[in-house]
Amino acid sequence: MPSASDVLALSPVVPVVVVDAVEQAVPVARALAAGGVPLVELTLRTPVALDAIRAIAAEVPEVAVGAGTITSPGAAKQALDAGAQFLVSPGCTPTLLAAMADTGLPFLPGTATVSEAIAVLEAGYRTMKFFPAEASGGVGYLSTLPTVIPDAVFCPTGGISAANAPAYLSLANVACVGGSWLTPRDVLAAGDWARVTVLAHEAATLR
Ligand code: 3PG
Repeated sequence: MPSASDVLALSPVVPVVVVDAVEQAVPVARALAAGGVPLVELTLRTPVALDAIRAIAAEVPEVAVGAGTITSPGAAKQALDAGAQFLVSPGCTPTLLAAMADTGLPFLPGTATVSEAIAVLEAGYRTMKFFPAEASGGVGYLSTLPTVIPDAVFCPTGGISAANAPAYLSLANVACVGGSWLTPRDVLAAGDWARVTVLAHEAATLR
């Protein structure tokens, strides 16, 4: 079983994907892989999300499919049962942390403050999401953290684009960034998989 840091080493950008139709799942995963991004965070925000994870896990083995927007213990279990290979939560409580750990999957707990990051470190985990990155202080905030919590490693997500990603990626405590800009919902609705591949290629070569 890979660790959370193994997952984040797959690409400079974790694509955060919302699918409105299960038919979008396999082509979007293949389009990301074709652009050099072999992972996808499929958010549990639409009724088809778990089926989308199932489809990618079954049909696109070259892509590591994770479940995002995990906000309850039940969602963590459902994602595991659907075949998710990693979990991402936007925030974190002791209950949610324990539920994600119980799945045995690598996971990224969401944090936005030093106290939350310390709580995750206390629980024995170094790698976490920083969300919502831009609204929570962005690069300036993250760059102050190594002096006080040098062990914490972040995947900043929320308000990140190809334009501001390089500044995050230059920080020593950033493993990669996350974002939805590789897979805009209208592009998915139009089935413009070539566009997804172009955006993925740009993202894969950011660092
Ligand atoms: C997430 O779930 O991580 C966010 O929705 C991604 O934020 P973004 O849409 O600003 O990239």
